[in-house]
Amino acid sequence: MTMEPAILAIYDRPVPRYTSYPTAAQFDSSIGPEQHGGWLSELRGGEAALYLHIPFCRQLCWYCACHTMAMRREGTLDAYATALEREILLLAQAAPGFMVDSMQWGGGTPTQLGAGRLLAIGHLVDTVFDRRSNAEISMEADPRHCDEATVQAMAELGVTRVSFGVQDFDERVQQAINRVQSFETTLAALERVRGAGMTRVNVDLVYGLPSQTLETLARTLDLALALAPDRFAVFGYAHVPWMKPHQRLIPSETLPDATARSAMAALVSEKIVAGGYVRVGLDHYARPGDKLAQALAARRLQRNFQGYVADDSPWVVGVGASAISSLPAGFSQNIADPAEYMKAMERGGFATARGIAVSLEDRLRGDIISQLMCLYTADIGEACKKHGAEARAFLSTIDGLAPLIRDGLVSIDGDRLAVTDRGRPLVRSVCAAFDRYYTGIEGRHSRGI
Ligand SMILES: C[S@@+](CC[C@H](N)C(=O)[O-])C[C@H]1O[C@@H](n2cnc3c(N)ncnc32)[C@H](O)[C@@H]1O
Repeated sequence: MTMEPAILAIYDRPVPRYTSYPTAAQFDSSIGPEQHGGWLSELRGGEAALYLHIPFCRQLCWYCACHTMAMRREGTLDAYATALEREILLLAQAAPGFMVDSMQWGGGTPTQLGAGRLLAIGHLVDTVFDRRSNAEISMEADPRHCDEATVQAMAELGVTRVSFGVQDFDERVQQAINRVQSFETTLAALERVRGAGMTRVNVDLVYGLPSQTLETLARTLDLALALAPDRFAVFGYAHVPWMKPHQRLIPSETLPDATARSAMAALVSEKIVAGGYVRVGLDHYARPGDKLAQALAARRLQRNFQGYVADDSPWVVGVGASAISSLPAGFSQNIADPAEYMKAMERGGFATARGIAVSLEDRLRGDIISQLMCLYTADIGEACKKHGAEARAFLSTIDGLAPLIRDGLVSIDGDRLAVTDRGRPLVRSVCAAFDRYYTGIEGRHSRGI
């Protein structure tokens, strides 16, 4: 459904992506290595997802908003692998007996580390932690750098799911984002990983890119559907040049406006759903038999820094530069700069730079925001009961709710909220009503649609 201009005029404002609540914008330096170590000890004997961040790529794509840099120097890659191993050993001391529920190698491009280093790190993880026998092990990959040797290393690491970055197949768009990658190259990489037994494959696309039009996007979607992945992640382009200066290479005037973005978002979901996929949350699509679609159907879907996940445990332990941990007591994030992260690991302690302790009220609001982001409904009564609050009194403090109801984005039945079809593309704005830290200040977050 395309949004009406009057609604867009109100709600096309910067809003968080709500991969956590409180969001990373609220993290500060009051949380450091000592808190992180203490918080980890609460996981003792419990379960959590393990996230390993590799902040390196062969070359930089101009659209990229992730914590990564172009890096090919063997010495730096060695030093980074050593730093990851140090952090894994520290983690094993701080949270002995913790069970790995699922494992994700993210980036950047993890394979940029090279097969030998990846295998050594994977081996160390297996030595110091127990892992569930059915744990998903996923890895992000760049189809342009996914040769036979790389695929063999992934298979040896026990990778069960590969996420390939595609973004767009149109040549003009690819030039404009410095990510030139043919359909044939992408197909060959998919076939290589499938041939090696890694049959679960995800494809990432982005709408709202420079020079993209509805016509070029429709062609990209047709080609992407022909790849027949198990899942798609289709993100709205986040243009945040104040945080990622290389994005200045993409002039703002070449970006589609709010109306065009809204039409693109609608086209993406129409075509992918017509292609036989279930829409999962705001930006994911999965085949009906895929774990993510099943988690949605069972209302077990979760959202974290990796996006929508079907994990059982709500906790995530992040390892590597910029990695964020989501722990029972709060969120903690490592130093983002890889050189500084490596120095901190050499000094021998955790590299935590910032974070936030989560209060009971944060948990209540976070629970509601997560329900809205995952299921487009929220049972405020249940959430309040779980967190020791009174639903009527709590709802009366949510000033932002009345305009959302007035604008037809949300309906309310007793204590149950439902985001309407019209409100779905703006679900992040609905969540913002429950975010007690949200100020709407321009420049912090990407656009609302
Ligand atoms: C960390 S990147 C990994 C990409 C992978 N290493 C590759 O080279 O294909 C994960 C995904 O984040 C998404 N992404 C990165 N920057 C983005 C931005 N500015 N706006 C929206 N999505 C973005 C892209 O879809 C990308 O595939």
